[in-house]
Amino acid sequence: MTVLRSVSYDQIEILKSIMTLCKIDRFCADVTYGNGGFYKDIEKPEHRFDLDGDLDGITQADSTALPLGGESISSLVFDPPFLTYVRAAREGNGNMVMAKRFAGYWRYDELESHYIGTIKEAHRVLKKKGIMVIKCQDIIHNHKMHCTHVNVINWAAGMFRLKDLFVLPAKHRMPSPNRKGVQKHARVFHSYFLVLERL
Ligand SMILES: C[S@@+](CC[C@H](N)C(=O)[O-])C[C@H]1O[C@@H](n2cnc3c(N)ncnc32)[C@H](O)[C@@H]1O
Repeated sequence: MTVLRSVSYDQIEILKSIMTLCKIDRFCADVTYGNGGFYKDIEKPEHRFDLDGDLDGITQADSTALPLGGESISSLVFDPPFLTYVRAAREGNGNMVMAKRFAGYWRYDELESHYIGTIKEAHRVLKKKGIMVIKCQDIIHNHKMHCTHVNVINWAAGMFRLKDLFVLPAKHRMPSPNRKGVQKHARVFHSYFLVLERL
């Protein structure tokens, strides 16, 4: 019997493990679909949403306000931006939703607001015991460690329980602010796939 492990260098392998463990044949929705990189070898979700209307094969929607009925789906994938101090996201009027590019946030509280808004929306559209998969990464912002994967679990408390946690080590150098001087924090070299079950 193949043992499914919590660490892999291959995000598709992690997604396939999650599907096997949660008995998911096909994800119902991906709310930050992007270029669909997750689905090169996996059937695409029925509902593919992204804020960026220029992407192919998606319905333009904000992950915090999905065009889905309450308790209407059984699984959902959320792979939001994780970087802060991304200037492009401040173009337009400085509001993330109105920005022309959606690769990141300026301040950590903008990230927090998007993540919490989407967790609440996932709680609304998912059926009881439905699965939300969140890909996230911890970051250093303003000289402070933001342990996003722990924050996500806390933000979801009362709505979801943590069912599984996978670690994806980076194959290549992860992006980081270009600072001079003495290194004060370990370079973050991995991201997480959190598997949350709706209460
Ligand atoms: C890390 S990328 C997703 C990559 C995707 N998993 C892939 O493999 O191609 C993050 C995506 O979130 C989208 N996004 C950012 N803010 C959003 C929002 N409020 N609602 C929906 N999508 C959003 C961006 O446009 C971007 O495509």
